[in-house]
Amino acid sequence: MTEMTDLLEWQALKTHQEQIAPLKMQDCFLQDADRFSRFSLSLGDLFLDYSKNRILPNTIHLLCQLAEASHLSDKIQQLFMGDSVNYSENRPALHAVLRTLNHNSLTLNGKNIASDVQSALDKMRIFVEKVRNKTWRGATGKPIRHIVNIGIGGSHLGPLMATHALAPFAHPELSCHFISNIDSLHLHQVLNKIDPESTLFIISSKSFTTLETLTNASTIRHWFEKTVGRNHFSQHFVAVTASFELAKQFNMNEDTIFPLWDWVGGRYSIWSAIGLPLALLIGMDAFLEFLTGAHLVDQHFQTQAFSQNIPVILGLLGIWYINFFGAAHHAIIPYAHQLQYFRAYLQQLDMESNGKNISKKGDPINFLTAPVILGEQGCNGQHAFHQLLHQGPHFIPVDFILVGQDQHDLLHHHDILIGSGLSQAEALMRGKTVAEAFSELQQEGYSSTEAFQLAKHKVIPGNRPSNLLFLKKITPTTLGMLIAIYEHKTFVQGAIWGINSFDQWGVELGKTLLSTILAELKHNNAAHSHDASTLGLIQHYKKIRNPS
Ligand code: F6P
Repeated sequence: MTEMTDLLEWQALKTHQEQIAPLKMQDCFLQDADRFSRFSLSLGDLFLDYSKNRILPNTIHLLCQLAEASHLSDKIQQLFMGDSVNYSENRPALHAVLRTLNHNSLTLNGKNIASDVQSALDKMRIFVEKVRNKTWRGATGKPIRHIVNIGIGGSHLGPLMATHALAPFAHPELSCHFISNIDSLHLHQVLNKIDPESTLFIISSKSFTTLETLTNASTIRHWFEKTVGRNHFSQHFVAVTASFELAKQFNMNEDTIFPLWDWVGGRYSIWSAIGLPLALLIGMDAFLEFLTGAHLVDQHFQTQAFSQNIPVILGLLGIWYINFFGAAHHAIIPYAHQLQYFRAYLQQLDMESNGKNISKKGDPINFLTAPVILGEQGCNGQHAFHQLLHQGPHFIPVDFILVGQDQHDLLHHHDILIGSGLSQAEALMRGKTVAEAFSELQQEGYSSTEAFQLAKHKVIPGNRPSNLLFLKKITPTTLGMLIAIYEHKTFVQGAIWGINSFDQWGVELGKTLLSTILAELKHNNAAHSHDASTLGLIQHYKKIRNPS
C-alpha cells in the first residue's frame, strides 16, 4: 500500500507549502478583495471565517484532493451506515444515530437500534419531568435540588461542559455538581455543598468498571446510607451505563438504569443518557433541541461538497498546519464564560481520538497526528499565555470562538470581550515589524539608540493563522452544532491519516500497572518488577503516607 506521505496529493501539498510559506496573509487580503467571503462559511446561526489562514484558493483545492485520495466520502458514508469504523474493537461509531430523531429503523446485529434510542429518550423524558416537576422526591419528601454526576472522561467532560454552557437555560431550582477525580478533597468539597436529602446522584460509566468512578460511587453510597439511611438509596441514585448487569450488582434499581450501547464511544456520548444531567437541568425539550443542532451538522457534513463543508474545511486546515507546517499544538480560545470547559472537552475528543501512531494495517505512521490541544477562555488567556502565541518560537494555529449576543445584555462588557477576540486574531496575523516598533518608541520619546535596542524586543512575527467561529448566541441548538462540528473535524483528520479515531488502547497500560501498585500498597509488599525509580517512589510514599 502507498504510504500517505507518498501520495501525489500529499507531495503536491508539500511543494505548494514551500511556494506559499513566504506569503503574508495581510498581502493576500490586499490582493484578493473577496478573500473574506471566499473563505467563510455559515450554517444556521454559526459563521466560520477561515480567511486568516496561510492559504490561497489553490490550497483548499489541493487539500480537497488529498481528502478525495483518502476516500473521505466513502469513509463518511461508512461512519453513518454503521460499518465497523472502530476496527480494533470491531464496532461502529454511531453517535449520530443518537441525534437522528424520528429515525424509523436502523438495524445493527439484528437489533433495531433506532427504537432502542427512542425508548431511552422516552425513559429519560419521564424521569426528567418527574424530577423537574417535583413528583420525584427524595427520601424525606424534599424535592431534588442538587444533581451530582459521578463519572470521568467521556462520562464527565460532556455533561460538565454542556451544563455550564447552557446554564442560562437551567431550571432555577436545580444545580449540577461533578465528582470525577479520585482526590478526596474534591469529594468532600462537593459533599459539603449539598444536602443529601435533596440530591440525586448519577453514576455515569459506560463500562461500570472504571476505578475512579466506582470508588467515588461506593464512598458516596456509604456516606449517604449513614446520613439518610439504607432504605432510600434508589430514590437518590440512578445510573447511566452500557453494563446493565454490573449496575444491578451495585444495587441499582433497574427502572433507573439508563442505557448506553457499545456503539457509542465514551467521548461521543453526550448525546445519550450520559447527557442526563444536562437534560435534567434544561428540560427534555431543550435537550432535544441540542440533539437537533448536532443533527443539522450531520446532514451538512454528509451532503456538502468538501470545499463548502465546515467540519471538512476545519479538519483539512488542521492537517495543513500539522503535517505541512509542523504545528504540534492547536489552541482553542472561546471568548465566552459559558464555554469555559470546551477546551477540556476537546482535549479528550481530539487527543484521545487521534493521538495514535498506527495505521489500519498495523504499520507505524511517519507523520504527526492529533495536535496538543491547549487553551483558555479569553480574555484570561490573553493575560497569561498569549505572549507565547504572539512571540514564542512555536507555531500554534488558533480557533477563536465568539458569541454575538450576550446573555445579560451588558453591552459595554460584551463589546470589550468580542473586540478582544477580534483584536487577538488580527494581532496574530499582523504582527509588528521592527520599523513599526522603532517608530512607536521614537514617538514615545526614546532616543534612536534606545529605540533601536528596545525595538528588537517588541517585534511580533505575525502571519500566525486562526479560524474564527462566531455563534449568534449559545443555545441548545448552537451548542449541539458546535460540538458536532468538532466531532466531525476529528473524524475527517483520523480518516485522512488512516488511523482509528474510536479506540483508546493507549490508556490501558497505566490502568494495568496501577492495579499492581495498588496491590503492593495494600499488602505492604514491594514487588521488584519495577524500575528503581518507581520502586523508590513507592517506598517513599509508604514512609510519608501516614502522618504519624
Ligand atoms: O480510560 C479512558 C476511558 O475509557 C475513556 O475513553 C472514557 O470516556 C472514560 O475512561 C470513562 O469510562 P467509563 O464511562 O466506562 O467509566
